[in-house]
Amino acid sequence: MRIVKVVKLGGSVITQKDRPFTINVPVLCDLAQQISRYLRENPQVVLVLIHGGGSFGHSLVRECLNVYGDVTQECFVRVAHYMMMLNSAVLEVLLANNIKAVSIPTRSICYVKGSEVICNVEQVRRYLDSGICPVVFGDVVIDVRGMRYVVVSGDRLAHIIARELRAKEVVFVTDVEGIFTSDPKKDRSARLIRELKADEVYSKVEFKEVTDVTGGMGTKVGELLRYCAEGAKILVVGGFIKDNLYNALSMKDFIGTTIWC
Ligand SMILES: Nc1ncnc2c1ncn2[C@@H]1O[C@H](COP(=O)(O)OP(=O)(O)O)[C@@H](O)[C@H]1O
Ligand SMILES: [Mg+2]
Repeated sequence: MRIVKVVKLGGSVITQKDRPFTINVPVLCDLAQQISRYLRENPQVVLVLIHGGGSFGHSLVRECLNVYGDVTQECFVRVAHYMMMLNSAVLEVLLANNIKAVSIPTRSICYVKGSEVICNVEQVRRYLDSGICPVVFGDVVIDVRGMRYVVVSGDRLAHIIARELRAKEVVFVTDVEGIFTSDPKKDRSARLIRELKADEVYSKVEFKEVTDVTGGMGTKVGELLRYCAEGAKILVVGGFIKDNLYNALSMKDFIGTTIWC
């Protein structure tokens, strides 16, 4: 039986977030190697890969918001273009590691209606059926009336795609070792939480943070919990640790947080 898993590579991991338009090449290569090894050893598993925007998406959107107060038409086309550049680099590295990957720009399968994001995942499913690994990414998306342009995060997409495909497991690879009691970059006494029940999250975790345009860990966890209600296992794992993604996918010891739904 085919097992569907969703892996989201955080923009904070695959790019250098404080340097505009800069890919973290060694980390991206390392993660691709781990994914490749896992897929080779587990032919019954199919993966949907999602990546964030990091320094290709966020800085530009932030600038647009500061200058125009909104994602204008001009911002939309530029952000769309820069996200394709990041996505091409990701694909280059995946292909170099023998992962049969193809990209599906999110804006071509999703639109926004009010606060809802509606995606047609049939094409994603079709690629999975043929043994190809679809790659989607945080992106700008047009609204149903063609009047507004909205940023849709990789985290939100992970939730939507996992729900539609009934994925058993969703793995978020991020720049910290998992979910901590509070932001580990701000609070030296923050402790890593290894296991969490979905209903305990807000009583045990604090998410004060300076967020990027898609909200950081607090919003990420909000999205996870929406999917959690639909019954799956969610992992938040550190992306800079040797073999960590491979170990998490392989159900070996890993550094991170498991959220039980
Ligand atoms: N309780 C918390 N546990 C872990 N990280 C947190 C927490 N609160 C805030 N953060 C921040 O969230 C960041 C990860 O979110 P983000 O930068 O959006 O990553 P990604 O690129 O993976 O989406 C971490 O770098 C950390 O500073
Ligand atoms: Mg983020």
